[in-house]
Amino acid sequence: MPNLNINGRSMSVEAAPDTPLLWAIREQLQMTGTKFGCGAGLCGACTVHVNGEAVRSCQTSLSEVSGKKITTIEGLSAKNDHPLQKAWIAEQVPQCGYCQSGQIMQAAALLAKNANPTKEEVVAHMDGNLCRCMTYSRIQKAIMRAASEMRTASTGTERRAT
Ligand code: FES
Ligand code: FES
Repeated sequence: MPNLNINGRSMSVEAAPDTPLLWAIREQLQMTGTKFGCGAGLCGACTVHVNGEAVRSCQTSLSEVSGKKITTIEGLSAKNDHPLQKAWIAEQVPQCGYCQSGQIMQAAALLAKNANPTKEEVVAHMDGNLCRCMTYSRIQKAIMRAASEMRTASTGTERRAT
């Protein structure tokens, strides 16, 4: 029975080691913020973090994440107040919303490493996360807004106009 470290908690699931992480998260653990889109690694709806890296949970087996730190959208922030979550609201990003938790998790992995990305870096990093509602321009704006807030919070000053 694989034991998973998800959002800072140890959880065991009754599933074979080759079960996709997405199935364990949604079906066994009933954490439904992470979405099933294509099931083939092509859309990004299922994105979670494994040791801080954005991964497609539909393409990641339980055996691959053994002993690693998994973060889902539910664990991104204690009070749903990650700068990206606040920026998503401020920019009114979602339309149907289905892709958005994956978008936020993908963006969070970028900003954890680079809080001062260029627009081109944002576009390149988000390239594999699809949105059928075409919210891409609002997603990009929200990421730049969140990055700006993170820089301001860490230095008290803005370094790059967005
Ligand atoms: S559901 Fe995993 S990439 Fe589409
Ligand atoms: S908001 Fe509908 S798929 Fe992205």
